[in-house]
Amino acid sequence: MDVVVLPTPADIARAAADRIADIVSQRPDTVLGLATGSSPLPLYQELARRHREEGLSLAQTQAFLLDEYVGLPADHPEAYRNVIDREFISLVDIPREAVNSPSGTAEDMTAACAAYEEAMRAAGGVDIQILGIGTDGHIAFNEPASALTSRTRLTTLTKQTRADNARFFNSLEEVPMHAVTQGLGTIMEAREILLIATGTSKAEAVAQLVEGPISALWPATVLQNHQHTTVFVDEEAGANLQLRDYYAHVHHNRPGA
Ligand code: GLP
Repeated sequence: MDVVVLPTPADIARAAADRIADIVSQRPDTVLGLATGSSPLPLYQELARRHREEGLSLAQTQAFLLDEYVGLPADHPEAYRNVIDREFISLVDIPREAVNSPSGTAEDMTAACAAYEEAMRAAGGVDIQILGIGTDGHIAFNEPASALTSRTRLTTLTKQTRADNARFFNSLEEVPMHAVTQGLGTIMEAREILLIATGTSKAEAVAQLVEGPISALWPATVLQNHQHTTVFVDEEAGANLQLRDYYAHVHHNRPGA
């Protein structure tokens, strides 16, 4: 796991966009894994700017979303499919039909989850997965006590996650109780992962993610077993890291750089 502490969310957005642009230039038909939440928004804005101003094209990419609320009408503005469309897809040239998302309205959830996994496999798997992290250490909607090998499935949100996400709704009661999420085992199959965390509220989750014991209590800790994960944090989110100075030292003294 590489840990990169940068001064501001804008610096993180540029660094993460550099990596994505690099991968897409090597492989135009890259399979992107997209996350919702506020943490990746500056990255999406930076990619959109590069598309508008510098000719970055994502036209041959495909995308898979991590998760979706259950029970929101398909046209609800906070359904993740619509959020990602508004905040990213509509600003770049990824064809809408190349964007896949778990269904939050399927009658047969088990079959829909299995079909989603199959679609990911058929696409050749995710090349680069963008992730945020919840204050309770969740990634996608894998809440504490999720199996570290879990697959795409229906899950129940914690009180804390519903409270954290209430800011996107009119009230806490409106936040769905359930969601469909890629599992931890599913996410672990992405070839490369970029996790973005900013702000003081993420400091404890980030310290657990990077330096805590691998535990279902902090689901993101499973990423310690991933071969190619970069964790981008700003000063606030990185404030509780014990080996902060060492991560900066590693970043500035890369072999061959
Ligand atoms: C949601 C999403 C996660 C996201 C997390 C953090 O619950 N399901 O994918 O990482 O919130 O969101 P934010 O970046 O807004 O703090």
